[in-house]
Amino acid sequence: MSSSSTIGSALAALTASGRAESRLAFGCDYNPEQWDPSVWAEDIRLMREAGVTIVAINVFGWAQIQPRPDVFDFSGLDAIIELLHEAGIGINLGTGTASPPPWLSTKHPEILPVDADGVRAWPGGRQAYCPSSPVFRAAAQRLATEVVTRYGSHPAVQLWHVSNELGCHNAHCYCDVSASAFRDWLRAKYGTVDALNTAWGTTFWSQRYGAWEEVLPPRHTLSAGNPAQALDFARFSSDEVLECYRMEERIIRRLSSVPVTTNFMVTAHIRNQDYWQWAPYMDVIANDHYLDHRLPDPHQELSFAADATRGLAGGDPWLLMEQATGAVNWQPRNITKVPGELMRNTFAHVARGADGVCFFQWRASAQGTEKFHSALLPHAGTDSRKWQEVLELSRALGSVRELAGTRVVADVALVFSWEAWWATDLDSHPSEELRYLEQVHAAYRALWEAGITVDIVRPGADLSAYRTVVAPSLYLVRDDEVKAVTDFVAGGGTAVITFFSGIVDQDDRVRLGGYPGAFTNLLGLHVDEFFPLAAGGSVTLDDGATGTVWSEHIVPGAADVVATYADGPLPGSPAVTRNTFGGGSAWYVGTALDRPHLSGLLARAAQEAGVDVPADHGDGVEQVLRRGPDADYRFYINHSDETRPARAAGLELLTGAAVDGLELPPGAVRVVKTKREE
Ligand code: GLA
Repeated sequence: MSSSSTIGSALAALTASGRAESRLAFGCDYNPEQWDPSVWAEDIRLMREAGVTIVAINVFGWAQIQPRPDVFDFSGLDAIIELLHEAGIGINLGTGTASPPPWLSTKHPEILPVDADGVRAWPGGRQAYCPSSPVFRAAAQRLATEVVTRYGSHPAVQLWHVSNELGCHNAHCYCDVSASAFRDWLRAKYGTVDALNTAWGTTFWSQRYGAWEEVLPPRHTLSAGNPAQALDFARFSSDEVLECYRMEERIIRRLSSVPVTTNFMVTAHIRNQDYWQWAPYMDVIANDHYLDHRLPDPHQELSFAADATRGLAGGDPWLLMEQATGAVNWQPRNITKVPGELMRNTFAHVARGADGVCFFQWRASAQGTEKFHSALLPHAGTDSRKWQEVLELSRALGSVRELAGTRVVADVALVFSWEAWWATDLDSHPSEELRYLEQVHAAYRALWEAGITVDIVRPGADLSAYRTVVAPSLYLVRDDEVKAVTDFVAGGGTAVITFFSGIVDQDDRVRLGGYPGAFTNLLGLHVDEFFPLAAGGSVTLDDGATGTVWSEHIVPGAADVVATYADGPLPGSPAVTRNTFGGGSAWYVGTALDRPHLSGLLARAAQEAGVDVPADHGDGVEQVLRRGPDADYRFYINHSDETRPARAAGLELLTGAAVDGLELPPGAVRVVKTKREE
């Protein structure tokens, strides 16, 4: 397992951080097997022109390097590796196991995954395998062993890229092999069927199990199924896919000393991997991020994902393994980036701790599913705006090379949990409009708009470095996680907790005695009934705020009432409260507040806790601070259409100009370095 300090040092090998030649990694996925070898020389020449330092290859190489069950052919890969090596370009080498070739699924159709209705997927796309399949695992193990044996000591190989976006398409398989693996997992967790019955509450609805053989994955049922079963299946599925990674990781650690990682998907639309459990096995934390135009504010979600990735890296720098220069091809409408947006997106990642920025992919495909996905080199070739932007971006990253190894500064923590996400979004809850990630994003956006940088932390994390912690809709919470927040407040910290938090324990069992069970004492109140709002409904608070989605009957104890409902089902009842607890305070928000009011409330709570909230916030300028041993680096990213002033003094790294006060043109990015006097 890697500690966070080894994450930093593994990445430092790619960025040479802290040394005179330090740089930020810049690169892409490179899929040369799509092209005639005559194209490769031009690829390498243009990669050098663009300042590419690292490329991911062999990610989907399986069918090329093992064309038949007992035939390995490394000639193409050897040639590419040598070309890259000669050009001084580092390699992020795929183990090649991401997508089984047709011969494997033809010979062993039982490796194909099965959905909750019992329908087996066909091959023909990618990642079509059951993560628990011993046949798939043996084949992947064999391939990985061949690849690592052959290239494990090659001087150009800087990073191992295990598989690809593990669990992107196949996180949940319901086949009989998965069922058996699920039972093994449950047996290891509970020991006895009786213990499982207790945890799952199977006395209700006549679901009691008499033997392990009766236990199944949560396949499609007529009515809603058992929620604790669904929750355990989500945990099992995350563990099972992690085990696919670990199987390859063990091979790599035995045969090579090059750092190992895989690309995470900390995004808005994929929630199947509990990356808090995965992170310790990575030498470098790497994320893939694509703007999601189905969301109201894609660039704010980008910032959230970047902060969450840094959280997974324990605050250390991390690697953006994939993003797009323009449009993707897998959303309903694939919106490209307007001029300047690529620079803003990239610098938002860098501001939030990325020490390397890579793209999918090098050259836009002429064929196949992703031919309309943008790339560094578009279909139009170098005679294109995109190519000029890529060159400009590469130059800009060169001018901030000294950032490598520096760390983001944040006084506020936001608690985020994949497990709580799965649990909150289970069926049969008070309102289908309460979706965990939406509430997390709402809190994050409110902090973003208040100009407050946050660290995203796991529940139960040590909070002592922070002044304020925000826990949005933390429905499922374990006792030790409750204690972490309670101790933090008792010791002088400020917590802001929002509705539908603290409701159940790890088995999805309601904490009795009034909601929000786990936090009633800390918050100095209890809730005796939920009053979710009708679809599209809203309530007004006496301070003018609007609430949507949710309301509830709060009975204050020690807590002070900050705002009450002016209308709706609970006029005159508390909507927002604040409790003094030990040396600190605990705020509670009982409805989904509108953006400006949530932002104002979080800014007020943070400010009262001593957080430095920028006075000029709320103008669409993203501000983040990275700190090095002897200098501070302040990022300003103007997302607005107006010129914005900023009070910054120092050396602006992108223009090389000394500044005393900034005028930020619309869309501009600036990084101001200030020497620190110790
Ligand atoms: C993911 C995958 C890539 C590619 C991109 C397209 O990130 O890892 O192989 O499919 O999506 O956006």
